[in-house]
Parts: sequence; structure tokens; C-alpha cells
Amino acid sequence: MTAEIIDGKAFALDLRERVAALSADFAAKAGRQPGLAVVLVGDDPASQVYVRAKGKATLAAGMLSFEHRLPASASEDEVRALVEQLNADAAVDGILVQLPLPDHIDEHAVITAIDAGKDVDGFTPENVGRLASGLDGFVPCTPLGCLMLLKDRIGDLAGLDAIVIGRSNIVGKPMAALLLGASCTVTIAHSKTRDLPAKVRAADIVVAAVGRPGMIKGDWLKPGATVIDVGINRIAGDEPGTTRLVGDVDFAGAMAHAGAITPVPGGVGPMTIAVLLRNTLVAAHRRAG
Ligand code: GUN
Repeated sequence: MTAEIIDGKAFALDLRERVAALSADFAAKAGRQPGLAVVLVGDDPASQVYVRAKGKATLAAGMLSFEHRLPASASEDEVRALVEQLNADAAVDGILVQLPLPDHIDEHAVITAIDAGKDVDGFTPENVGRLASGLDGFVPCTPLGCLMLLKDRIGDLAGLDAIVIGRSNIVGKPMAALLLGASCTVTIAHSKTRDLPAKVRAADIVVAAVGRPGMIKGDWLKPGATVIDVGINRIAGDEPGTTRLVGDVDFAGAMAHAGAITPVPGGVGPMTIAVLLRNTLVAAHRRAG
């Protein structure tokens, strides 16, 4: 068996085009463009790349992009004050505080300060609770993008066995809640899980979000399983001095066993920004009433 490749890049491009068209409709009716504010604290190189990409994509979707950069030395009070200012700014529909924050800042305290109606990352306790309770709210972008890819590939997910490997607040936990909401039977695996290969083998859907290159082996998979690889790991390339990106799943091995798999890069990664723009458009509509 050779797995089909799930083209997240193409899906994300199409979603971004649809959001751009709807954003133009919103602007025509509301007399203003949807606006997304991104807060970056410190100079983490990966975060800088992500924030730049988010700003560019926001403008390309016909939205206003507000970028706020604070030095790594900024205090928690300063970050919270900026969030409060953005909560009160009528031109701002969505607020995203790029994580991780510097060690001296309590992430929970900053996230909790975000107005739940502008929380396009879906990280505030209110939105986490809404997802857990099956209520409308904002859902974290990466897992929602994974769910879109799964529904596009499989259709109705009801009754399928799914395993989510990784229990982070950003991906693993919300992913499990979304799959449960889609009536899957969900297992959440983590570093203390016993006999992971056996649990993966029982799953029709495998979502890997652990941040360990190639950890999930192809021969662990149930033949024909759908594999969503959230990992983005930079490892040494074949030529000296080069690097390359790989996922959490051993891609070559999985190709021989899975029914379908997202590649890295070009799978889940592009979905995150596309869903962020979609959530910002939804926030603009909700705020406009
Ligand atoms: N850092 C890594 N992923 C994310 C994300 O989805 N949102 C935010 N705010 N920070 C992140």
C-alpha cells in the first residue's frame, strides 16, 4: 500500500482565498476591515518567523494587521496592560499573544486577560471550557485545521478510533476534544503511556503532536489509517551543514502502511495561519453583531 498525501498547503490556500473574499464582503457591509493584533514579547527566532508570516497573511486576506513587539525584559504587568488596551480597541477583532513568553511571565495570567470574544487562538479559560462543553467559541487553530483535513479526507468521523499523541494545551487536549465532538472514540497518549505501538495499531486516525522527530514508526500503524503529523522538527540534513524539517512520524515507513498522511512541511503547518484568519473573520462578524 502507498499512502495518499494530504495536501494541507493546497487546502490552506483555498481556505485563505475564501476568507479573503468573505473579508471583503465584511468590509463592504461594516465599513471597516477585520483587524488582528499580534503581540510578540522577546526575540525568539522561531516566534519572529511565525509572527512575520501571520502579519503578511493577515494583510493578504484584506484584514488590518497590528503588530506589537515588546522587549524580552517587559514585565507581566506591561504585557497585560497591552492586552487590555487591545481589548478596548474597536479596530481589533482578534488578539494573539505569541507563545512561548519569556520565563518570568506567567502565560496563564496573560492569556486570561484576553477578551474571550477576541481570543482567536482559543486559549482563554472561557473558550477552553466552551470547547469542552460543546458550546460555540474559538477553537485553537492547529487542531481545528487538523479536523478540517480529516473531515475533508474521511467525511463523517463518527465511531472511528482516534489516538492523539501529545497532551499540550495548544494541540493535544483541544484535538482530543474536537475528535470527541465528532463522535470518535479517543485515546490520548503521552510520555507515560504504556505500549504506545499497540495503542496506535488500534487507531483509524493518528494525530501526532509530540515534537520528537520520526518517533511514530510506520509498522505501528493500522493498515489504511489516516495520519495527521503536527510535528515540525529541524534535524541535520544529508549534506554537512544543512538542515531539514521532519514530522513526528517516520514518513517513509508510514507511506507503506497508512491510507493517507500529511507531509512535513506542507501538511498541517500551512493550516494554522489559514484557520487563524478564519477565526478572525468569525470574531469580526460576532463583534459586529
Ligand atoms: N506558539 C506555537 N503555536 C502557537 C499558536 O498556535 N498560537 C500562539 N499564540 N502561539 C503559538
